[in-house]
Amino acid sequence: MRALLVLAGLLLLAAGLAPAALGGNGGFAPVTPESPNAERIHDTWIFVSIFIVAIFVLVEVLLVTFIWRYRRQRRERFEDGPQIHGTTSIELMWTVAPVVILFLIGGFVFYKLPGIADVPRASASGEERLVVRVTGRQYYWQYEYPNGAVAIDKLRAPAGVPVRLEVTAPDEDVIHSWWIPALGGKIDAIPGVTNETWFEAKRPGTYDGQCAELCGLEHATMLASVEVLLAAEFAAWLAERGRGRASIELGEEEWRGACAKCHGLGGEGGIAPQITGSPVLADREALEEIVRNGRGEMPAVGSGWSEEQVDALIAYLRESPPSGS
Ligand code: CUA
Repeated sequence: MRALLVLAGLLLLAAGLAPAALGGNGGFAPVTPESPNAERIHDTWIFVSIFIVAIFVLVEVLLVTFIWRYRRQRRERFEDGPQIHGTTSIELMWTVAPVVILFLIGGFVFYKLPGIADVPRASASGEERLVVRVTGRQYYWQYEYPNGAVAIDKLRAPAGVPVRLEVTAPDEDVIHSWWIPALGGKIDAIPGVTNETWFEAKRPGTYDGQCAELCGLEHATMLASVEVLLAAEFAAWLAERGRGRASIELGEEEWRGACAKCHGLGGEGGIAPQITGSPVLADREALEEIVRNGRGEMPAVGSGWSEEQVDALIAYLRESPPSGS
């Protein structure tokens, strides 16, 4: 009776998990790829998984069969079974099969690799690809577009256009790792080094990711997302950001990305002190000094920021000063 209950419980659990595992990923399977490079990574995962599952099943079936078939039965406890020395055919099989499998996997990966790693050239129709500089910093992502537009943490990109990312980190920072699983593999953001990766999102939507290299206390809050817009919407956003008209919007991104992760969204304090009501927040000169150079434990989160970026932060803080909760 108890065994039946346990079985029923397990079946219910399986029924609950199955849709998550098969349909909406639910964390059990990789996310659905939305870019050609991510698709090739996914293909490779499936190809390798076929061998993994087959080998797992083979080994477990043999294990259980042998345990059952060659169990002691009525043999005396210390009596040995028949001794077998060498079987050429089986030895050949377990040598040749792994070699063949490794060659197949290696061949498949090398076949897929260029389509994952190489940034596609602009198409024959002259369609311009977009280049964005991605800088990983403790603990936010900064994006710089060719027209001078800047954004923090959320990267906007047009659908159907190859986007080349130049991923780096400032000299005085640490290593981070850019990773939006639906749009391709990880690429490290290394101080003083520029790594390249790319994506070409098929359709509009928001694709989430996370800094994938342990980079300090607030590593877990170093989220990233890519908002893919229709080409016209993206062009409008880019033009507006580039002209500095959206400075309050940029200021809010900076507050959330560079300040609030340590000081709290309302400035109420977190791993860094409470700053609600601090006169520095309304004093452009004092704010610029501390943001550019840091103070005490506080790192220079805004070293290298443009004047417009400092203006944007002060404009946002004057419009909506953090209220403490
Ligand atoms: Cu940046 Cu983890």
